[in-house]
Amino acid sequence: MQSIDVVIMAAGMGTRMKSRKPKVLHRLAGRPLLAHVITTVDALDARSVVVVTGSGADQVEAAVAQWPHKARTAFVRQEPQLGTGHAVQTAAPKIPDDGIALILNGDVPLIAPATLRTLVQACGGDQLALLSIEMADPTGYGRIVREGDAVVGIVEHKDASAKQREIREVYTGFMAVPTKRLKPWLARLKNDNAQGEYYLTDVVALAVQEGAPVVAVKAPNQMEVDGVNSPIQLAALERTHQRREAERLMEAGVRIADPARFDVRGTLACGQDVEIDVNCVFEGRVTLGDGVRIGANCVIANATIAAGAVIHPFTHIDGEKAGVTVGEGALVGPFARLRPGAQLGAEVHIGNFVEVKNSTLAKGAKANHLAYLGDASVGERVNYGAGSITANYDGANKHRTVIEADVHVGSNCVLVAPVVVGAGGTVGAGSVITKDTPQGALSIARGKQVSLANWQRPKKVEKK
Ligand code: UD1
Ligand code: MG
Repeated sequence: MQSIDVVIMAAGMGTRMKSRKPKVLHRLAGRPLLAHVITTVDALDARSVVVVTGSGADQVEAAVAQWPHKARTAFVRQEPQLGTGHAVQTAAPKIPDDGIALILNGDVPLIAPATLRTLVQACGGDQLALLSIEMADPTGYGRIVREGDAVVGIVEHKDASAKQREIREVYTGFMAVPTKRLKPWLARLKNDNAQGEYYLTDVVALAVQEGAPVVAVKAPNQMEVDGVNSPIQLAALERTHQRREAERLMEAGVRIADPARFDVRGTLACGQDVEIDVNCVFEGRVTLGDGVRIGANCVIANATIAAGAVIHPFTHIDGEKAGVTVGEGALVGPFARLRPGAQLGAEVHIGNFVEVKNSTLAKGAKANHLAYLGDASVGERVNYGAGSITANYDGANKHRTVIEADVHVGSNCVLVAPVVVGAGGTVGAGSVITKDTPQGALSIARGKQVSLANWQRPKKVEKK
């Protein structure tokens, strides 16, 4: 098989998005449209990739450079944008002559690698292969014109006759074509049409004139070839995509309360008997072990949650780069917040309005109400009282707090780091602990209580 050289057209204005942001940088499933296309291209092992930029070219090129991708990617700038044929003409000097040119749209994000492979195979190195689909309402699309079975051309909607507009087989915007044949056709494109543009689709008629074989391959489903031109289309495609993700998980046994209220913006791996209530969002890489239950309205990003753990409603977990781990049988939330580096052991309990950052909690440790644990190591079975916090930041540096096993920290304590609370110790409520405490001791650091007998409260002075 010949090498594949990809051209991604991404220069268009995207006027209907009514946005300052270039259209191909708008997000579907948490990732820019163009990033989806580039990931798909990676799966094809293409020899080269050229992205045609124009509107917002600086932003688009900077974004592409940041995304991890295998393929060597070059950019060409198309200014002004005179049509899809002109876009490929602009890219032509960067496309080697001896391969198959695979032409993609930057705003059609869900095309699958398998479909593109089928298209390339249909090209086979000497045919012009088009991806087409039958549409109930083909308004706006280029129609595939056939004589008998043979494809003889594509006519754009605006140029089509009433009769041609009845054709329901449309061009999806994807083609695979031998580059050495494509280049001379590109050079012959004209712009004498309804839009005054150089249409890439006109190469079909040129191929037919030359007697070059043209084939149309049917796309396997509508979703793969749906483009994004407006916020309404973007939201619709997002729902279609999320529905498919939900179905894939449900087919594997995951119980999703309502697939219409479920979003994965990254990868979600689930064990057996996982239950996910409504309105949950999963971002980055999330792994849920066997029997995990996620309550309603949770946002969970970059986290590994072990078997049997329960995340109660309205919990926010974001591991960012460092990740978050939740141990077996742990209970988290409702209204808990786990930040990067939170590592909860088995059977840990984190309750409402508790924030944990860069801290390790050993098996059975509990912080059930209104607390902060930052840069802390918490031993087994520790009970961390309501309203207690680690003062981990001195304004310049972060320091660690070590709370050894079986410690009981009372309510409303401040543990000023660096500090160690010795194993089995108790910290009295309201204490500000600035020095290490011995094992097994009761440590209290607060103003002594005094009571003044028969205290007379001041009386209000009557104004005359
Ligand atoms: C194109 C096809 C049409 C097909 C439809 C499928 C042509 C002439 N028509 O129409 O047959 O049914 O796609 O969606 O090709 N672009 C550039 N530079 C330009 C113009 C466009 O890079 O000068 C890019 C756009 O950013 C977009 C893609 O090419 O990613 C397609 O352009 P668009 O204007 O959407 O083409 P359509 O009119 O939809
Ligand atoms: Mg379009």
